Amino acid sequence: MKKRNDEKEKNHHLRQKPRVMIVENDSLIAKDIKYTLESLGYEVTSIAFSGKEAIKKVKADNPDLVLMDIVLNGNLDGIHAASKIRKYANIPIVYLTAYADNKILQRAKITKPYGYIIKPFKDGELRTTVEIALYKHRTEQKLRESSDKLRKALESTVNALAYAAEMRDPYTAGHQKRVAFLTVVIAKEMDTPEDEIEGIRMAALIHDIGKIHVPAEILNKPHKLTDAEFEIVKTHSQIGYDILERIDFPWPVADYVLQHHERLDGSGYPQELVESQIKQGAKILAVADVVEAMLSHRPYRPAYDVTTTLEVITSKKETLYDPQIADICLRLFKENGFRFR
Ligand SMILES: [Fe+2]
Repeated sequence: MKKRNDEKEKNHHLRQKPRVMIVENDSLIAKDIKYTLESLGYEVTSIAFSGKEAIKKVKADNPDLVLMDIVLNGNLDGIHAASKIRKYANIPIVYLTAYADNKILQRAKITKPYGYIIKPFKDGELRTTVEIALYKHRTEQKLRESSDKLRKALESTVNALAYAAEMRDPYTAGHQKRVAFLTVVIAKEMDTPEDEIEGIRMAALIHDIGKIHVPAEILNKPHKLTDAEFEIVKTHSQIGYDILERIDFPWPVADYVLQHHERLDGSGYPQELVESQIKQGAKILAVADVVEAMLSHRPYRPAYDVTTTLEVITSKKETLYDPQIADICLRLFKENGFRFR
């Protein structure tokens, strides 16, 4: 038992050594670098002599760093091989080359290398470059992890708020999720950047949060609302904004929520904004919100069918809804067979 523990201990210790892979077409130079690296305290996982071999060995050995010669045998040079490796593995790559002409440097830069060593080099140079590359990579990794954690915390905050709104109003339950689903599909069709879509999706998930301030009797009333009651319902956009502006979102989530009942011709609420004053995210949200609401049953009316719903969007595009967004939504339903799950 003790022997096995000792073995484990030894393996653990060995794993602590940074594992470097060498890609070098000259076997003598490769051996020399291997020797230097080992004497500097690194473990050399393997040596590859061509780009193709490098790609295969990175997959098999999963090293902590790749030392990549730019001039290699075969039809893949080091820069090509590096860009292929970076597509599937998050491993820092340090280039090794005898030439440092501008054209090569420019090509190499695109692959975001962690360092560049010009041959011939001194042991100290190799060590410094490898250490800096490993440190930079570890720091980036930690940053990525902490931003993932923050993103998850934000997501759970949004889910908790959505849950709060849905507990009070059974008609909001599911509505916000379905609106978020359609919103994302429309935004993707419009080639909206990934990060922006995330902001619009979060806004959609909580766009009716302000309804927690509207009395339940009004929300669940089985008849048409009186004008006075409707005025109370209308406050939910502003209340939603007041709640959400307290959260420091990296996107204008509170604005999207505030503006989701604004209409292009200024007939919406609460600020009666017109076309250019309404944020794109709010315009997408508006179309998705109306479509989902019409297709759903409400205490005071049955659900509309798809044809009637799409007719309303068609007749009101340009006056109420952004025509490009409306057209995308219509196409999704008519041609792509989009339906809420
Ligand atoms: Fe709303």
